[in-house]
Amino acid sequence: MSKNRIDYLRISLIDRCNFKCVYCMPEGKTISYALQENWLSVDELINLVESVFIPLGFRKFRLTGGEPLLRPDVITLIRAIAALSGTEDLSLTTNAYRLADMADSLYQAGLRRINISLDSLQPETFERITGGQGRTRWQKVWTGIQAAHRVGFSPLKLNVVVISGVNDSEILELAALTLNQAWHVRFIEFMPIGNQDLFQSKGWIDSACLQQQIRSRWGLITASIQGYGPADVFKIPEAKGTIGFISQMSDCFCDRCNRMRLSADGWLRPCLLNETGQINLRQALRQKQSVQDIRDQVAALLVAKDTIHFKARDSGTTAASTALYSRTMSQIGG
Ligand code: GTP
Ligand code: 5AD
Ligand code: SF4
Repeated sequence: MSKNRIDYLRISLIDRCNFKCVYCMPEGKTISYALQENWLSVDELINLVESVFIPLGFRKFRLTGGEPLLRPDVITLIRAIAALSGTEDLSLTTNAYRLADMADSLYQAGLRRINISLDSLQPETFERITGGQGRTRWQKVWTGIQAAHRVGFSPLKLNVVVISGVNDSEILELAALTLNQAWHVRFIEFMPIGNQDLFQSKGWIDSACLQQQIRSRWGLITASIQGYGPADVFKIPEAKGTIGFISQMSDCFCDRCNRMRLSADGWLRPCLLNETGQINLRQALRQKQSVQDIRDQVAALLVAKDTIHFKARDSGTTAASTALYSRTMSQIGG
């Protein structure tokens, strides 16, 4: 077995998205999406979670995309996974564009935790980051966040990918969202995935600089919050919410990695940034391989996972490592 307990599965429900975030989508390149007939069906997903992943010790499940709320059967799936006795935690990562209309039914279905991308508090900047052409996106997302808060999702986390010259002037305003409400803002270092051109021209901003800015303004103390991801968590003294930093570039957290990813078309990937060893569970299911066989393949990947991580990517120039650079977060599942 891997030295870490791998018990967190990120399940991508769809590789398409209704936003085109600058850091995620490569400019001027066509992205090839999975055919809809190749998406794992709700029955296939439930079967995998119940008969393969839970017996192997997975307990935490996060639904991602693309944009998972575009998937028509998302509510049915949530109801089913939430009802499994092996599920200890079920969460979802969304851009919140459709959240205002769906927050209630998501909660009724058994979802309790949502992470939302919110890269700017300024509608025009937000529109520019998310690739919109009107001026309505920010308002819709903001209304979605309010709805999620009202319905009772907790903890409610807001993700900010920090990009130089785009939203790095808003760090204090974004951090201030945690002062009076139990909202949890996380600043994410821009990773070389998705828009390579933008990464090359902008680089990434070290979380330590952001921490310093916030510390000088209000002070910052260590804190904790429900969650199983890589964020380092702090809070402004007396604030209701927390501030997290996801610092993959300055402080590689692969040694603490506890997760695998299942793509919308059924590929099980041991790592976000390294495709070595991935297995095609859709094919296994549709070829009617036995549950025991599939479980054995996943168990073998759990053993191999220790050697497959982000650092391996930098040392190798294999076909797989080149291919992964051209994938977007939307295709892999956040
Ligand atoms: P919780 O802590 O359980 O709430 O979840 P999380 O923070 O893992 O989930 P979320 O989907 O909000 O992830 C936030 C961001 O962290 C992602 O969009 C990525 O940028 C980054 N991230 C999440 N998981 C990984 C990972 O395994 N590897 C790397 N390199 N980055 C990750
Ligand atoms: N670097 C860091 N995070 C990224 N995301 C997408 N692309 C990148 C990138 N290049 C994250 C955003 C979004 C989630 C779906 O993926 O946080 O919330
Ligand atoms: Fe895990 Fe890979 Fe992310 Fe590292 S880059 S934390 S090994 S998924």
